[in-house]
Amino acid sequence: MSETAELKLENQTIELPVITGTENEKAIDVSSLRGKTGYITLDNGYMNTGACQSAITFIDGEQGILRYRGIPIEVLAERSSFLETAYLLIDGKLPNKGELENFTNRVRRHTMIHEDIKRFYDGFPKDAHPMAILASVVSSLSTFYQHEEARPETEQISLNTIRLLAKLPTIAAFAYKKSIGHPFMYPQNSMSYCENFLHMMFSTPAEHYEVDPVMVDTLNLLLILHADHEQNCSTSTVRMVASSKANLFAAITAGICALWGPRHGGANEEVIDMLLQMRASGDSVKKYVDMAKDKNSKFKLMGFGHRVYKNFDPRAKILKAQCDKLLDKLKVSDPLLDIAKELEEAALKDPYFIERKLYPNVDFYSGIIYKAMNIPTRAFTVMFALGRLPGWIAHAKEYGEEVGNKINRPRQIYTGPNLSEYIPMDKRG
Ligand code: SDX
Repeated sequence: MSETAELKLENQTIELPVITGTENEKAIDVSSLRGKTGYITLDNGYMNTGACQSAITFIDGEQGILRYRGIPIEVLAERSSFLETAYLLIDGKLPNKGELENFTNRVRRHTMIHEDIKRFYDGFPKDAHPMAILASVVSSLSTFYQHEEARPETEQISLNTIRLLAKLPTIAAFAYKKSIGHPFMYPQNSMSYCENFLHMMFSTPAEHYEVDPVMVDTLNLLLILHADHEQNCSTSTVRMVASSKANLFAAITAGICALWGPRHGGANEEVIDMLLQMRASGDSVKKYVDMAKDKNSKFKLMGFGHRVYKNFDPRAKILKAQCDKLLDKLKVSDPLLDIAKELEEAALKDPYFIERKLYPNVDFYSGIIYKAMNIPTRAFTVMFALGRLPGWIAHAKEYGEEVGNKINRPRQIYTGPNLSEYIPMDKRG
């Protein structure tokens, strides 16, 4: 006998099916609600609403658990590579040796962007935000890869997946080079994924540049930790756009734009700005914690709090443990890290944060590591997008493969004026 929920309304009582996930999460299926009762549900910010069923990522916010296709993030962080994790998320299983080699080689062969795309960068202002450049250039990819309807859809998705994974690091690195007036450095396909990105970011034609293997390992870890996170704002946006059957480049562009916001992926940039402001002010950490608690101040502790995690974000835990080691290996000591640790300690003892279960999230420590890697602060969210790309693609693909999938079109409760007259101009106030 399948589980049901009973809903008592003014003039009727109905039963609604209950859906149970593989980790025993429960949902009331309200897909028949409006048809049976005329009622809809309302849930500001979708805090209690599941938009879909998905087999990609599992999060238990209370326990601080994060798994990609069932594998704990701690294990992947320790043992996997970013491209292997991307394959796992997108194809649903760990690749065997031959599959990983083939996937890696396919990505390697698509790292260059069309020479005409380079000219777009000439048009951007020197101080253009790299997220704006990323969104613009990724969106333009659909103009270079159109008229492909002849290919079967699965082949188009597969090829565009490879193109995006391969080209996003190049597009991102070119945005950085543009911002510092350096010549673009072409990808070197003899290099690994992370090594190639760091080469494009930091080498110049003027002298030999040796990519530091510690930086490669650090980047590999950061990209794995950011690779997916179930129905976060940007991934839900990608699914929303994919549901209209727009092309993959359009869906990923929408994800990039959603990620940019300071409440979401933009928080890592804001964390560093907050720590720099704290250091420059010389004020106490306590002052900032008190400001964050003061409803009259707009100030929030960036890098704290999470819609789902009401325990430590497991990614923050991994990064916090790695931070000291990585800074030591990168031969960097950063006073911002000391401030961050003091801030974390103060907040985690404060009843306001304890009652609201506000813990450091993935953005709290990632910015400090990116800074140690000489990634410019304004490119921190670009780094988040590089990591999140396979997750976005996996969700767009999962949506497309869903039998009987429907366009996402939420309902609303109207609160505007009732039936009104059109007032002629000479009668208006
Ligand atoms: C990411 O969804 C994902 O999975 C996202 C992400 C991913 O991998 O995709 O994990 C990545 O986006 C991490 C979050 C990065 N954002 C920040 O660090 C920005 C600061 N955090 C807040 O903006 C906030 O915590 C959110 C946006 C992350 C979550 O907001 P919610 O779930 O809507 O919670 P809320 O704003 O309703 O806060 C609940 C209470 C409120 O106080 P009360 O009204 O109950 O008195 O907690 C307070 C908030 O004022 N609060 C904070 C706070 N975050 C929440 N107070 C001070 N500082 C904060 N950072």
